[in-house]
Amino acid sequence: MVDSMSNDTDTVIASAPSNIALIKYWGKSDATLNWPANDSLSMTLSRAATTTMARINRAAINSTEHSHDLSLGHLLAFGDSFDNCLRVRDMTKPRLFLERLRAELKPWIKNDGPLEIVTKNSFPSACGIASSASGYAALTVAAVGVWTGQHTMAGLETVGISRDLIAAWARMGSGSACRSIHGGFVHWLRGETAANQKCRQLFDCSHWPLADLIVLIDGKHKQVSSTEGHARAFSSPLMNVRLAGAGERMKSLLNALENKDLEKLGDIIEAEALEMHAVMMTATQPTRYFTDKTVEFLCWLRQQRSIGSIPAWFTVDAGPNPHLICLPEHSQKISSQIKAQFPEFSIISDCTGSGAALPGFMPESREDQIDGH
Ligand code: DP6
Repeated sequence: MVDSMSNDTDTVIASAPSNIALIKYWGKSDATLNWPANDSLSMTLSRAATTTMARINRAAINSTEHSHDLSLGHLLAFGDSFDNCLRVRDMTKPRLFLERLRAELKPWIKNDGPLEIVTKNSFPSACGIASSASGYAALTVAAVGVWTGQHTMAGLETVGISRDLIAAWARMGSGSACRSIHGGFVHWLRGETAANQKCRQLFDCSHWPLADLIVLIDGKHKQVSSTEGHARAFSSPLMNVRLAGAGERMKSLLNALENKDLEKLGDIIEAEALEMHAVMMTATQPTRYFTDKTVEFLCWLRQQRSIGSIPAWFTVDAGPNPHLICLPEHSQKISSQIKAQFPEFSIISDCTGSGAALPGFMPESREDQIDGH
């Protein structure tokens, strides 16, 4: 990868984990600015992560064939290709994103040039883990690092680039990516205007370590992307009801988090996820992300919980694969119980994590993490 024309300051590696929304970002007040219709709150994960290398492409700067802007965001990939993890084939979206990011960064740029990006996920795509969240978060940190010539988070802080600011930039790529910049439990506040929205850490990961068991029921790519889902949501008669209750639900969740009340948190996240999916099923173009197997699994889980056998609560993003939130000391047993009942499912075991890192780390291999394949 690295050729003789580049030097150490030309390359950085950043990582960012995915996050699971406990209260979902669903519906945008402004689609260009990724301004959410409601506040959301997520738990940052640890093992499900994207690692991204950004390198100034010196050859492209001097090339007569590629203008600076044209080759900006030129993407090369290994492992899970970047177009898979961002679900774009033609690279237009990440390329435009890099151009917008570079414009925002103007006052800080020390090391300019078109970028070459290589990226890898520690998890398979289309598995119920938000790859756009970790993908755009890692891409943002890597690009900011290489263009500013600051190769650590601490270095970025010293030049006035805080995690909050990086989160605001990552949001331009994919809304949920802003929450992956911070660790622990993260609150994305919509604010009164798009410019006033904020993404901030509520509690770091030591506040309340929780496990997230991601149950892989169906590995197919979803038919309706999140971006499209956000737009469809407003056609549902339930959307106004959802938005009217969002503040109360957030208050209750904040309280459950502060008091580390898992049962209360569990009841809130299940109602929240089911509401989001009900909105989608009642949209003008009805959209069902659950499969029959998802429904069977969720009914079984609730039945097991009602008899005191499985102390875990679900949430489901825009796909068929549930995330089960439970205490870390229960996760292994719960995983075995699921496998005994549904041997065809695989499970990824994750937990609360500490957010984007610069310098980054190489992801653990997928095989280590997926139980059941
Ligand atoms: C269901 O962040 O993927 O995961 O901003 O259009 O890229 P874009 O959408 P995206 O939406 C995430 C939706 C969700 C809920 C959540 O993570 O809050």
